[in-house]
This record gives sequence, C-alpha cells and structure tokens, in this order.
Amino acid sequence: MLRQENLSMAILSMALIVFGLLGASPVQAAEAEQLFKFYCAQCHGLEGKGDGPNIGKEFPVDPRNFTESAEMEKLSDADIKNVVMDGGPSASKSPMMPPWGKTLTEEEVDALVKYLRKLCNCTGKAS
Ligand code: HEC
Repeated sequence: MLRQENLSMAILSMALIVFGLLGASPVQAAEAEQLFKFYCAQCHGLEGKGDGPNIGKEFPVDPRNFTESAEMEKLSDADIKNVVMDGGPSASKSPMMPPWGKTLTEEEVDALVKYLRKLCNCTGKAS
C-alpha cells in the first residue's frame, strides 16, 4: 500500500517536472494553431482562407487569405508581426483587422507568424 503511494507520488512529481519544462519553453507549434483558431479564425477562417464565420456580405473588406502564397510572399515576417501587433491601420490597412499587441505576447505573435508561413507555404521577402 505504502509502496504504491510512493509510486504515484513519483509519477505525479515527474509529471509536474515535465509540465514545468513545457511551460518554460517558447510557444509550441501546436499552441500557435490553437491561438490562430481562437483569435484569428473567426475572420481569417479555420484554414486561413479569409472565410471565417464573421465575414458576411456586410463586412467591408476581405481578410487576407493566408493560403495565397503570391500575396503573402510580398510581406516580410516583420510586416506580418507589425500588422498583427498594431492592427490594420498601422500598415495602411483596414481597422477591421484589430491590433493584438495588448492581448498576445510577442512570443505568441512570433509563433503566429510562423504558423501563417506554414499556411502560405512561403518564406516572404527578407525584412
Ligand atoms: C475581426 C476580424 C479579424 C480578426 C479577428 C483578425 N483579422 Fe487579420 N485581417 C482582417 C482583415 C479585414 C484584414 C484585411 C485588411 C485590409 O486588407 O485592409 C486582415 C489582415 C491581416 C493581415 C495583413 C495581411 C496583408 O496583406 O497585409 C495579417 C498578417 C493578419 N490579418 C493576421 C491576423 C492574425 C494573426 C489574427 C489573429 C491574431 C487576425 N489577423 C485576426 C480581419 C481580422
């Protein structure tokens, strides 16, 4: 009985160590996908095609389709990061693209930039 308790304590503390390590590491790819689905997909679509449920006929401007490599290729990683942190108007784009700098950390935005690069399958122009 005692032994089993010791064993479960050992497993529990091992799990805590593993979670602790994960927590300390930079934003993981899977987490970037979660962030995208949570914060961006309602406009940009679950697959990033610019066709999220928020986008009805009355929506004044089409959110970027992130799978359009030719368009995404024109943006550097820094361009993407800026518009995500500071919103559409910071890049002379529509205010319908909200600023995320107060909601997301810089690390999370960096992870989202990488995620968008996966969606467009492109590297973008050099900053
Ligand atoms: C409320 C709707 C909405 C949400 C939510 C939203 N966006 Fe946007 N986004 C837009 C619209 C609309 C545009 C296009 C603005 C324009 O073309 O003038 C845009 C443009 C962009 C652009 C610029 C593309 C370019 O060509 O310059 C990037 C990058 C972007 N969004 C990333 C994101 C990310 C990442 C998130 C989640 C953190 C997000 N957006 C959430 C509506 C939204």
